[in-house]
Amino acid sequence: MPAMPIRRILVTSALPYANGQIHLGHLVEYIQTDIFVRFQKLRGQQAIYLCADDTHGTAIMIRARSEGRSERELIAAMRSDHLADFAGFQIEFDHYGSTDSDANRRLCARVWDSLRAKGLVVSREVRQLFDAQAGVFLADRFVRGTCPRCRAPDQYGDACEKCTATYSPADLIDPVSTLSGAIPEIRSAEHLFVTLEAMHGFLQQWTRDSGALDPRIFNYLSGHFLGEPLRDWDISRPAPYFGFEIPDAPGHYWYVWFDAPVGYIAATEEWCAIHGGSLADWWQRGGSNTPAAEIHHFIGKDITYFHTLFWPAMLEAAQLSLPTKVRIHGFLTVNGEKMSKSRGTFLLARTYLDHLDPGALRYYYAAKLSGDIDDIDLSLEDFAAKVNSDLVGKVVNLASRTARWLEASGLAENYPDDGGLFAQAATDGTGIAAAYEACDFARAMRQVMAAADRANAYVDAEQPWKLAKAGPAAAARLRDVATVALNLFRQIVVYLAPVLPKLAAQVGELVGGPIGSWDESQRPLVGLPVGTFHSLARRVEPAHIEALMTASMPASPPPSASASSPASAAPPTSSGASEVTTDPAEPLAAEPLAPECTIDDFAKVDLRVARILAAEEVPEAKKLLKITVSLGGEERRTVFAGIKGFHEPAALVGRLVVVVANLAPRQMRFGLSEGMIVAASGAGATGVYLLSPDSGALPGMRLH
Ligand code: MSP
Ligand code: ZN
Repeated sequence: MPAMPIRRILVTSALPYANGQIHLGHLVEYIQTDIFVRFQKLRGQQAIYLCADDTHGTAIMIRARSEGRSERELIAAMRSDHLADFAGFQIEFDHYGSTDSDANRRLCARVWDSLRAKGLVVSREVRQLFDAQAGVFLADRFVRGTCPRCRAPDQYGDACEKCTATYSPADLIDPVSTLSGAIPEIRSAEHLFVTLEAMHGFLQQWTRDSGALDPRIFNYLSGHFLGEPLRDWDISRPAPYFGFEIPDAPGHYWYVWFDAPVGYIAATEEWCAIHGGSLADWWQRGGSNTPAAEIHHFIGKDITYFHTLFWPAMLEAAQLSLPTKVRIHGFLTVNGEKMSKSRGTFLLARTYLDHLDPGALRYYYAAKLSGDIDDIDLSLEDFAAKVNSDLVGKVVNLASRTARWLEASGLAENYPDDGGLFAQAATDGTGIAAAYEACDFARAMRQVMAAADRANAYVDAEQPWKLAKAGPAAAARLRDVATVALNLFRQIVVYLAPVLPKLAAQVGELVGGPIGSWDESQRPLVGLPVGTFHSLARRVEPAHIEALMTASMPASPPPSASASSPASAAPPTSSGASEVTTDPAEPLAAEPLAPECTIDDFAKVDLRVARILAAEEVPEAKKLLKITVSLGGEERRTVFAGIKGFHEPAALVGRLVVVVANLAPRQMRFGLSEGMIVAASGAGATGVYLLSPDSGALPGMRLH
């Protein structure tokens, strides 16, 4: 059978504006794109992920001015922030450019020349609002006034939020510049336009027949734009403007939305300069004997019209490759509502990273994204529940309760009979891959979790912890059972590798080496050493989420906001359907219940909620962490807890725990221990599990 030719796939995310920080809404797109690209690479395709900062426009110019620095200083600073945020979420670009680059300036000129040569550029006087105090023409968003249709006050310059009318800023009643507060004057200036209507036939045909767009998008475009003559596209701005001056129209600059998508091509050119090949390999139409490159643009629904009308028109005019797919996603809401600064739900990427694990969000988004245009909701309660139940409870749990049995012996020499489980999940790989290809990551995650459920049921039935107790007689069986479990685990992690690259790398270190190919899901491993198991995932605790939201609140909350934190005000969720428990009987059996005690006995033990303020390793002690907890107010306790190796000290800070607050102090080698942190452990457990109260509990509260 001839091998399938390797696909060459150029993938982009929309270029984030350089005038703002990356937030969790943006990440819906960048995480989604990164998963798609990692999937393609894992499948052996040549995929490249390109992006850049979108640096031009009035907003950057105004902001730089108000901060007293140059635009280039501002965009350099934003670039490094953006790159740090993306890296923090394991978003791996093959190249990250800037629209303010030489390559982009040259390529813009090339596309421009094509438009000119085809007679698609015309010039016209435009009446625009001018802020004489600030010395700039006002972009629509920098003017507010009364809607000319419904008379609603305080509306933007281009559209009314009340009655949805669209209009020109010059039609606003009583306009005011939001830059200076000045009353703008109407000035007339020459603008250049692209006569899109000349390409109506092409756009009609391409949006309908090319396969690049979902039919729903074609319907939207037909209803809103293609059903009537296309309006000329205003493509230039007069000075002053931060952007590229148009070579054949001095004093005029390309509008930011002209040079931004050309940034995709510029990033490709820069990538080629580093990695070899030429721009033509990726953007030249047909004609060559290598298979043509595919081009996939991932964008949010708000910028559909730029990517499905203007951009294809530019590419068509310049005879460059058209997109193979424009993949359009919906918008992020948090707890069912638009992200809001005053509610503490405007969540910046960096703030999230201060409190939570990037893998958790990557998984949650994957579980939510189905490749369509519906908005997706980040419900923080659901987020915690889903990550804890799926990633920690189903996936990582498989390894945490079996890997250690193989530390000494390694995997069995022959793959044992597993009742067909590995083979079944291997067959499922076809469907999982198809779901990834369609960007229906939610379906892929469901299939993977179904495999994890089957694997866990296997472990529950085989009860390796019992075999471990049975001594040498059961050693071979124990090794077989653990070999099956660890193989099923690694197979699942291969399928999850596009979503959870860090987990994949850690599992590669545990057993079998780096996961480099999807095909590794098709063959079990045997006879290999197994490393030491380290915790692979952290539970999302209510305290983490509370800390994230508190840190996302504006510095001084608006007077109407209540003092209680939003997380504690949120309604509790119930798990819904009652579940059949498959919990093993072993932990209880291994440590039988203590003799009966009276309520008075119990009352002697003063259990309190406490917040961990500091945690550090005790270098001389194998198992101990030195932990300082607060019982509220000034009340502090220092305790030595035997949880080193199970908990990262840094990750403990801020979380709520339960302490025995009236325990007699005990002098230890390393200092005085003034209490005890309550934790669960026992037979069959490979960890020590700290207890956390429900959200809303406060340090100092007593447990009754
Ligand atoms: N600079 C333009 C894109 C130019 S592409 C040639 C832009 N930048 S943006 O920073 O506003 O948005 C970048 C991407 O993030 C867009 O695709 C946008 O739809 C997406 N999102 C921004 N906020 C979002 C949400 N709240 N939810 C989901 N996606 C969001 O647009
Ligand atoms: Zn109105």
